Amino acid sequence: MSKSILLLHGPNLNLLGARQPEVYGSMTLDAINAAVERRVAAFGVELRSAQSNHEGELVDRLHEARCWADGVVFNPGAYTHTSVVLRDAITAIELPVIEVHLSNIHGREGFRHKSLLAGVCLGQVAGFGWHSYVLAADALLRQWEYLRD
Ligand code: DQA
Repeated sequence: MSKSILLLHGPNLNLLGARQPEVYGSMTLDAINAAVERRVAAFGVELRSAQSNHEGELVDRLHEARCWADGVVFNPGAYTHTSVVLRDAITAIELPVIEVHLSNIHGREGFRHKSLLAGVCLGQVAGFGWHSYVLAADALLRQWEYLRD
């Protein structure tokens, strides 16, 4: 059976393209979604994307993903640094989740260095702009052995 991925974006990422392009790049969220979809479609993998500015809605999306997705690529935005709720949701759904950041959070302000989520994710990709998302999707493709070596 072919695999499906939830591409989930947290708060303020709806403004990508216009929001601090010197930090986050000039690509819009729609363009990023389309780029990741192109990448995984080449392997016959389905992608559904969603964005929310609300913590509880992100929890709902993660819970729903249990019913249809095989993995999640997730940029939690600032909730990365604060949310025990999202950490618990990621733990609860028992799906492989890759945490993604456009910017290198480890090279920015001290409060961004800590992720409450990374420890319950399969891994973290940060610092490669929009390409971070493609690298994260590739991590799932590799996990499922669509990609080798
Ligand atoms: C971000 C990094 C977070 O610290 C920040 O709050 C964001 C975006 C990133 O993709 O680089 O909203 O997740």
